[in-house]
Amino acid sequence: MHDAVSIITAKRSGQELSGSEIDWVIEAFTHGIVADEQMAALAMAIYFQGMSSAEVARWTAAMTQSGSRMDFSWLGRPTVDKHSTGGVGDKITLPLAPLVAACGAAVPQLSGRGLGHTGGTLDKLEAIPGWRADLSGEEIANILSNPQVGAVVCAAGPDLAPADRKLYALRDVTGTVESIPLIASSIMSKKIAEGTDALVLDVKVGRGAFMKDLASARELARTMVELGADAGVRTVALLTAMDAPLGRTAGNALEVREAIDVLAGGGPSDVVELTVTLAREMLTAAGIDGVDPADRLRDGSAMDRWRAMIAAQGGDPLGPLPVARHTDVVLAEFDGVITDIDAYEVGIAAWRLGAGRARQGEAVQAGAGVEWHVGVGEHVSIGTPLATLHTDTPDKLPAARAAVERAFTGSLEAVSPRQDVVIERIG
Ligand code: URA
Repeated sequence: MHDAVSIITAKRSGQELSGSEIDWVIEAFTHGIVADEQMAALAMAIYFQGMSSAEVARWTAAMTQSGSRMDFSWLGRPTVDKHSTGGVGDKITLPLAPLVAACGAAVPQLSGRGLGHTGGTLDKLEAIPGWRADLSGEEIANILSNPQVGAVVCAAGPDLAPADRKLYALRDVTGTVESIPLIASSIMSKKIAEGTDALVLDVKVGRGAFMKDLASARELARTMVELGADAGVRTVALLTAMDAPLGRTAGNALEVREAIDVLAGGGPSDVVELTVTLAREMLTAAGIDGVDPADRLRDGSAMDRWRAMIAAQGGDPLGPLPVARHTDVVLAEFDGVITDIDAYEVGIAAWRLGAGRARQGEAVQAGAGVEWHVGVGEHVSIGTPLATLHTDTPDKLPAARAAVERAFTGSLEAVSPRQDVVIERIG
């Protein structure tokens, strides 16, 4: 029989926890036998002492087994999902899920809501009037098996890795989110429980991401790829740039509009490039060859899937999107070239305007966010519009404006164009 205090002190002094200690502590925490303050102390000990590969694998398995595991083997089509560790302007799931479904895979994507400066996929889709994130298991199965749809983006139900749900909420308020073993096990326990055959991880690296440097992004990616392989989920990771924000918008309805532009064959080149690259990786991981996702964007079949996917979850794919009541334009105060746009500052601005939340459960504004009109390497003159701020609450404009002004850097001289979107592939 184990007890929480011995497990906490063992980890605090750098000892490796045994499999049975890990199984016990996760199960006891899920059922309220290990108290929140004890689990918070253990999370802090893990934050400082780390975990061996064997410990992370067992911790992940215990969290996966704390609830039920979905099974889509009856679908008769390979299932594949993508998970991003979170960035600013990262709306890739929106065009990607219907695109990959249009190429022949089933895409069961359980997503989250945003917290802090990074946005959440469910918040973006909820900007579409009528669209529902909470689906029953039966609804998910019906949408995935419908040959006209085949992709579902929804919230994880209460029985999917409940230990992680509880632990993540605790980490969020105890300064223990930024631990590689805890992040890797949290993400992978949910993805394994989701029942996907294959998984592509988009590990963001840079100022606007959780992982600020390449070495930690690599370590996180390798840990997650190993956890996927251990659990029988074919997993690959791409490390992708998040120093500058993705695309030209950060905010819920603004990003839905941009995703629709991509599905219509337009949209910003970095969003298109990352969408097509991730789609190719997902198809390879799912064992589907002979289909080029770029063709499915061009021929309109990805757009048809998008419309079917939105309608299947109660949304009107052709209806108007919400627009914020107030806007404010930030103008260039110099002549020259944009050399940098700081993703973190843009994320903070969008969040302050009402696109994100400071606490779990808060409402977000559908129309709020930032739209930037120039990219890195583009020339501006004094008075050129750099960005438009959107909000329903104009008292939020000054703080957001200050963040956007800090985000843009210019120079009189030309700069080399922005770095490649994909930095490295692991797996
Ligand atoms: N996303 C998760 O699901 N878990 C983490 O720990 C961090 C990001």
